[in-house]
Amino acid sequence: MNISITKTTNPKQKPDQNDLGFGQYFTDHMFIMDYTEGKGWHDPRIVPYAPLELDPSCMVLHYGQAIFEGLKAYKTSKGEILLFRPEKNMERVNSSNDRLVIPRIDVDFGVKAIKELVKVDVDWIPDAPGTSLYIRPFIIATDPYLGVRPSNTYKFIIILSPVGAYYKEGINPVKIYVESNYVRAVKGGLGYAKTVANYASSLKAQVEAKHSGYTQVLWLDGIEKKYIEEVGTMNVFFKIDGEIITPSLEGSILPGITRMSTIELLKKSGIPVTERRISIEELYAAHAAGKLDEAFGTGTAAVISPIGEFNWNENSITVNEGKIGPVASKVYETITGIQSGDMEDAFGWTQKVL
Ligand code: COI
Repeated sequence: MNISITKTTNPKQKPDQNDLGFGQYFTDHMFIMDYTEGKGWHDPRIVPYAPLELDPSCMVLHYGQAIFEGLKAYKTSKGEILLFRPEKNMERVNSSNDRLVIPRIDVDFGVKAIKELVKVDVDWIPDAPGTSLYIRPFIIATDPYLGVRPSNTYKFIIILSPVGAYYKEGINPVKIYVESNYVRAVKGGLGYAKTVANYASSLKAQVEAKHSGYTQVLWLDGIEKKYIEEVGTMNVFFKIDGEIITPSLEGSILPGITRMSTIELLKKSGIPVTERRISIEELYAAHAAGKLDEAFGTGTAAVISPIGEFNWNENSITVNEGKIGPVASKVYETITGIQSGDMEDAFGWTQKVL
């Protein structure tokens, strides 16, 4: 399929690279492709960034049939533009689509659409340290219909946003509230898919945690509220008594691409990673025994984010004296080094756009 391009006649002023924050600015163009039953995905196009016209009865507004992705484009010191494992995001689009009964998208075509859009808005890619162009592909159900069933029409859209750090803490450790009242997901639910509903269900807990001075919540399993799942914007890793542990994916945790890359990277460096269930009691017991060496989160938006403090049932513990530890530092430096083109990409993770 050929992607048509209509360029804006009214380019926007670009934001200050040193004050981007996250997700506040949007580039001049967006990608759109439509799906109609019987016709499949059609009319891929890059058009000026603009509000969408949607019927007030369109299904996504009523029943939340929507999924999204997040990845980034980086400008290297040589001026090349790189994407980090974009095919993994498109594969996850299809896994999310399957769960929400949305028709699949060809992985190679999805990656091509991302690359074409990034090329059109290439001047928007920031190059200050710690900045990148965040890419947000998403799909919404557009049938104007109020009965509960899957839609017969969809839009696949990609927008771009120049970003800095997701957390105001940057690479400094964040404080995490362990949530024991609300739950994010259960096995058999939507937890492993990147659906908008997962994020809607996280908001109440996030607001309450913020109110108490915490950056994010750590979700426990939805049944026993015992086993550690994820932070919602990040997967989590712990170093306990020298062993790196991350919760195993059992249907309720998002299979993060930075999580996958962290595991592959550590394994290649000869540092084994154990994927298994780990309870919050075990984490606190390890801390009490002086064996909780490090905790950190991984995510596309958050990159690598050390965790300096947990609060579980008003019992706070500090990890590694509230400082970033050696494993998180190594993973951060290697992943950001590969993404920025400053380190050799021995894994073949990056794809060149330009
Ligand atoms: C990402 O890391 O891309 C995420 O999806 C987290 C968040 C901004 C929703």
